[in-house]
Amino acid sequence: MFTDMHNHFVYGVDDGCADSDAMLKLLRALHEDGITTVIATSHITPGQRHFSLDDYQAHFEEAKALVEHENLQMQLYTGHEILYTDAASRYLREGKAMTLANSEYALIEFMPGEKYERLCEAAQKIRNAGYYPVFAHIERYACLSDIRKIEELADRYGVRMQVNCSLFVRKQGLFRRHWIKTVMKNELIDYVSTDTHDMPGREPMMKKCYDVLIHEYGQTAADALTHKNAQDFFS
Ligand SMILES: [Fe+2]
Repeated sequence: MFTDMHNHFVYGVDDGCADSDAMLKLLRALHEDGITTVIATSHITPGQRHFSLDDYQAHFEEAKALVEHENLQMQLYTGHEILYTDAASRYLREGKAMTLANSEYALIEFMPGEKYERLCEAAQKIRNAGYYPVFAHIERYACLSDIRKIEELADRYGVRMQVNCSLFVRKQGLFRRHWIKTVMKNELIDYVSTDTHDMPGREPMMKKCYDVLIHEYGQTAADALTHKNAQDFFS
């Protein structure tokens, strides 16, 4: 039922799963958590840090074979989580950085202390390259504690916003709780995702997140954030 559009299950290419066994455990856990569609967004830093795309592709195909062998009803798709650098838009244009499930949407992340101006520049350049930016785990960026800046990114550049499930599931401090309430009230969040890297320690918690969303914000919001909004990646 759920779509996880930010995940590091492909092993041996980034700080996600270390080996095939770890990947299998994580795939089982994702399935158990009610996830039926997953995008494998391994980290890439354009112009700086690369993994072998051949390894990624081979291990991704291995994951598909495991899912089929285990009879897990789960669709797997390719992607990247792109740490924004000056080379990012060029990498997208040249096909060296992968979009979400081969769509027009690209998952972009930043260092937590990145300046707001740099986020705007990234959004503009990604749009100019012909793609729609989806900003990963926006709860991490200090400059977006100012909610008007999230609105501005969405209004000016069409940026879509992803947060991790843990934001809703784990206990948060007063300021963070206020931030969550305000972004939800203003419908500024488009997707929740597990961003799982490995088991144990970062177990998927989509189902728990879904339950919290229903309880706090209602069925429509819960459905939108856990799978409906992500349908755009597959149309
Ligand atoms: Fe990630």
